[in-house]
Amino acid sequence: MKYQAPRGTHDQIPPGSVAWKRLQTVADRVFPLYGMLPLETPVFEHTDLFTRSLGEETDIVSKEMYTFQDRKGRSLTLRPEGTASAVRAYLQGRLGEQGFDRFYYFGPMFRYERPQAGRTRQFYQIGVELFGDAGPSSDVEVIESLHRFCHELGLRGLVVQLNSVGCPECRGRYVATLKSQLAGCTDDLCELCRHRLNRNPLRILDCKKAACRERYQSLPLLTSHLCGPCQEHFQGVQAGLTSMEVPFRLEPWLVRGLDYYTRTAFEVTSEHLGAQDALGGGGRYDLLVEQFGGPPTPAVGFAAGVERLLMVLEKTAPEPASPHERSVYAAALGDRAAAEVMGLSRRLRDAGIPCLVDTGPGSLKKKLKLSSKLGCRATLIVGDDEVEARRVLVKDMGTGEQELIDLEGVVNCLKEKA
Ligand code: HAM
Repeated sequence: MKYQAPRGTHDQIPPGSVAWKRLQTVADRVFPLYGMLPLETPVFEHTDLFTRSLGEETDIVSKEMYTFQDRKGRSLTLRPEGTASAVRAYLQGRLGEQGFDRFYYFGPMFRYERPQAGRTRQFYQIGVELFGDAGPSSDVEVIESLHRFCHELGLRGLVVQLNSVGCPECRGRYVATLKSQLAGCTDDLCELCRHRLNRNPLRILDCKKAACRERYQSLPLLTSHLCGPCQEHFQGVQAGLTSMEVPFRLEPWLVRGLDYYTRTAFEVTSEHLGAQDALGGGGRYDLLVEQFGGPPTPAVGFAAGVERLLMVLEKTAPEPASPHERSVYAAALGDRAAAEVMGLSRRLRDAGIPCLVDTGPGSLKKKLKLSSKLGCRATLIVGDDEVEARRVLVKDMGTGEQELIDLEGVVNCLKEKA
């Protein structure tokens, strides 16, 4: 084969593309229950939208962005995530002024990462962003919507890992404590942690190296340094999740890989994902709208990785073996039968029954073989004799039973069996 999809990208092809589409359908059903409206933004933006909001020292900005110059020399970047674009669109479209402040989106994101299971360079996120409410109930709604979405997809046993990263004031005090406690022993830390301690100290808590992790065990927790209002907010989120029956676990070491978060930070993980175990994550970003030049506007949201959701679903709640299991295969034998089958297919579709029409040449045996291969639930056979008798031979592909049914009654009969 001459061409291959670029490394780290994937086609969505059948049969997997059916589950892919189902996920979008579930999203279109679940998120509007919260008043969230669809939002689509361009796949590329001006580069500084991301560098300014995600943080210069984050992995994404420092090494993972697909950045290029357009023909006029402007620096553009394929979006690595959706929040910055959502904030820009919210401000640019003056959506808040019109009372539109809850959104959900589904689309491709791009990060130049080392591809492995569950980690690709183009991946899809489904995300939500809520603007304008500083209270903990928005955090709860966002987290509960992710929980409901996963549940509706068929995912079970997921636990939300919850933390608070405070506000700039209390976080600043915590970072100062961190630095002073580690001051004498930076030689024991890994190179990345030594670098982060200077540039983005909170991120050291995310280190996966055993030696560093052990060292950090004795450090004070961020949550014990929260100021009064941040503490109160954190308690409010926990109380809300409990009353909404969303299982969660406090995870004091959880810091997110993006710099815009304030207060709530959360992730949903799955044991079925291996090293890349985060199905989704998000949190509050109360300062970002203002940072983009808008009025002070608190906000909270999450994004989940579509490919990762599908990986877990495949392991825990597999899709039906055939994407055509609801379909019937309408096979015509001869020209007169072909016209009859076309009319029949129209009536089947009017009744909501998916129908694959085969009016081509070929023996009955061949057509039955194809219907079976595609996993259709029934084959409708129409030849000259059937046209004459105004009947259809219906073969149940599961049991193998055959029945001659009146042409007029066949749609109702199939509807009853669906
Ligand atoms: P994030 O944690 O960077 O957050 O990404 C969210 C999810 O996207 C991850 O949990 C993961 O499932 C998926 N993901 C990330 N990178 C990859 C990759 N290379 N391959 C496959 N899946 C991936 C954000 O992007 C924030 N914008 C979330 C947010 C929204 N916070 C507030 N609002």
